Amino acid sequence: MPLLPPPLLIEARNVCKRFPGVRALHNVDLGVSRGEVVALLGENGAGKSTLMKILAGILRPDSGRVFVDGRPLHLDSVRSAVACGIALIHQELNLLDNLDVGANIFLGREPHRLGVLDRRTIRRESAAVLQVVGLDVSPATLVRHLPIGKQQLVEIAKALSVQARLLIMDEPTSSLSAKETQTLFQVVRDLRARGVSVIYISHRLGEIRELADRVVVLRDGENAGELQRGEIEHDRMVRLMVGREISQFYRRRPHPAAAREETGQARRLVTPAKDLRELASPPVLSCQCHAAREPVLEAAELVTPAHPAHRLSFRVHRGEIVGLAGLVGAGRTELLRVLFGVDPAVAGQLHVAGHAVTFRSPADAIRAGVALVPEDRKQQALILEMTIQQNISLAGLSRHCIGPGILSPRHERETANEMIRQLNIRTPSALQTVRHLSGGNQQKVVLGKWLSMRPRVLLLDEPTRGIDVGAKEEIYELMEALAESGVAILFVSSELEEIMGMSDRVLVMHEGCLSGQLARAELSEQAIMSLATGASPLP
Ligand SMILES: Nc1ncnc2c1ncn2[C@@H]1O[C@H](COP(=O)(O)OP(=O)(O)OP(=O)(O)O)[C@@H](O)[C@H]1O
Ligand SMILES: [Mg+2]
Repeated sequence: MPLLPPPLLIEARNVCKRFPGVRALHNVDLGVSRGEVVALLGENGAGKSTLMKILAGILRPDSGRVFVDGRPLHLDSVRSAVACGIALIHQELNLLDNLDVGANIFLGREPHRLGVLDRRTIRRESAAVLQVVGLDVSPATLVRHLPIGKQQLVEIAKALSVQARLLIMDEPTSSLSAKETQTLFQVVRDLRARGVSVIYISHRLGEIRELADRVVVLRDGENAGELQRGEIEHDRMVRLMVGREISQFYRRRPHPAAAREETGQARRLVTPAKDLRELASPPVLSCQCHAAREPVLEAAELVTPAHPAHRLSFRVHRGEIVGLAGLVGAGRTELLRVLFGVDPAVAGQLHVAGHAVTFRSPADAIRAGVALVPEDRKQQALILEMTIQQNISLAGLSRHCIGPGILSPRHERETANEMIRQLNIRTPSALQTVRHLSGGNQQKVVLGKWLSMRPRVLLLDEPTRGIDVGAKEEIYELMEALAESGVAILFVSSELEEIMGMSDRVLVMHEGCLSGQLARAELSEQAIMSLATGASPLP
């Protein structure tokens, strides 16, 4: 007797959804069985989050139906979705900063005893779900005191605390460490074993191979194909997502400055396409041998407030891409914050382009030509209610002025359109509100904002977080072109592949100190990891 397919817990049929100027979903089908882990894949803006918001009752489809247990469902509110056992972990964190962890977990369904808020139950039950996700903080901790990775775990704990039958995770691991990710995978496997269904969205294809029973791919708001368990391979996923082959992971071309240092000969810098070259300031067509070795960013005995016991000294040269590696909590983000004037340095000296600088605020850093693309774009980098154009022009406001305090709208518009084109930002226009962009496209706006400022020093904190495979390549090429035009780049990444592929040199941090540096020829996963875990610290 043929085996019947397992009954579907939830099914979306022929779902369509439009936004002004955007066809987000067109006749999309998606079914999930009980106890099945389905990975939903697609490029930035393909429609994944929109489809999930429809399943979770946050958005209504223009047409098409959603069925739960085979019955048509009228999801008219989040409450009705929760009543059906559907819980969504948002891509962009949705916690209330000023409330504590416990209050966030129980938000909107606070238990009461004798008419009074039952804090004991909140504390006890929050502590239990926090333990499940491996987060060691008290439920009384204010959310705003937690780093973003821990906030993400609170969001996951919150979803687990509702006894869900379908758990939707929209990029849950984008700011988790490797260890936290493994704990989360165990949680997902336990849920599956208990018959809970999971829809899992991630741009990290390795995770999907490890976790998914089936892969469903969206492209431009339509179903692009499916892969069964045995067919889930990196290249097949990419082909369905992008509709073409992406041959190989991007690798940095040998850095001209490094090559010159090796040979000691002055050479003309290879210049990239004209428009990219013009992004950087000052544009470099050719340069002298010594100019290539010029340190643009130089820290001497710098002490950050986060790790006051350590002194950090390093240089980043003109045209160089330096990777900053280390485990989560090693102090990389804290270092970038000091370099950008968000936090004051406790001690030490900083030079930018040969001038001693003291940054009391990011405005000082911007004036000196330093830009930071931060890790947490929603909190630190974007004003969601403003348009793409306004966000992009924020960083370089003074450059768009045609008189004191008067902005040149034409210049603003041209810069924004240029960034939309170069970064391939998917939007109907530069006047779209940033809140309405997909997660990955918001990240590209953050990049565009700082690139349009033409920085001398570009600090990037996890620049490809939440970015799809194709767009990652574009960002790598852009970093490459900026470096070739003379920008000094320091970037933090938790993806070793990215650090190894893109760096001329790697600085490794361990518990707040620089535990070593590796030249490009010395790079290996093992060498980085042993420095990152403090196995062989330098004196
Ligand atoms: N509220 C909205 N108003 C207008 N456009 C929207 C809105 N929400 C989403 N969109 C658009 O719909 C399209 C699909 O967006 P969606 O967020 O579903 O993409 P995604 O697949 O989740 O991408 P990512 O991987 O970047 O998160 C995008 O073009 C996006 O800009
Ligand atoms: Mg999304």
